[in-house]
Amino acid sequence: MKKILYVALALVLTAFCLMACSNSSTPEKSVMDNILTRTSIRHYTDQPLSEAQIETLLRAGMAAPSAMNVQPWSFVVVTDTAVRAKLVSSRVNRMYAEAPCLIVVCGDEVMLRKPHDAPADAPLEARPNDNWSIDCSAVTENILLAAHALGLGAVWTACWPYPERYGVVKEVLGIPENVMPLSVIPVGYPAEDPAPKDKWKPEKIHHNLW
Ligand SMILES: Cc1cc2nc3c(=O)[nH]c(=O)nc-3n(C[C@H](O)[C@H](O)[C@H](O)COP(=O)(O)O)c2cc1C
Repeated sequence: MKKILYVALALVLTAFCLMACSNSSTPEKSVMDNILTRTSIRHYTDQPLSEAQIETLLRAGMAAPSAMNVQPWSFVVVTDTAVRAKLVSSRVNRMYAEAPCLIVVCGDEVMLRKPHDAPADAPLEARPNDNWSIDCSAVTENILLAAHALGLGAVWTACWPYPERYGVVKEVLGIPENVMPLSVIPVGYPAEDPAPKDKWKPEKIHHNLW
């Protein structure tokens, strides 16, 4: 009788372990899930984001890689209803008025560097930063992924290179010369549930040679 009880107990424990193992996701899996299930969200409830959530999004943004680690970015976080309404310049960006929070990702088009081969005490020189838009694109994607991981919805809306869009954003927000808003990211709790698009197309892949 005792033996049967031990066997039963062992079976129950084994089943429990198997269930626990199959439910536990490795960090790799949760990162992949987050990437593959992110989708653009363009309708939001009016529930505001917490300061902690906004800081998490900005931390994710600032963790992006950048050419020569220049980190040419800066951010304008817009939660004020009147300012958000002023940023709506067309039908395409009407969601600025709906989302409780907009994160405007800006890039510095000029960087300060020492001239090549200059001595250590040489003054810094202002040079165009050819990579600002690429660096700020990495920031934007990081923020989209972080928003999705937090259960929020967001969408990348283009600002640069469209003068009719970045002109309004620069003017309303008082963004200085040499600083360009690349994207405006409306973020909020999703009020829609679109299915993520399946973009896997093996025919786009070439091995070794095109
Ligand atoms: C550079 C860039 C600019 C975009 N601009 C806009 C925009 O102005 N308005 C908008 O609604 N969506 C915009 N999007 C979002 C795309 O429409 C969206 O990412 C695309 O349709 C793929 O859908 P998904 O994000 O759900 O995978 C932009 C995306 C990128 C990468």
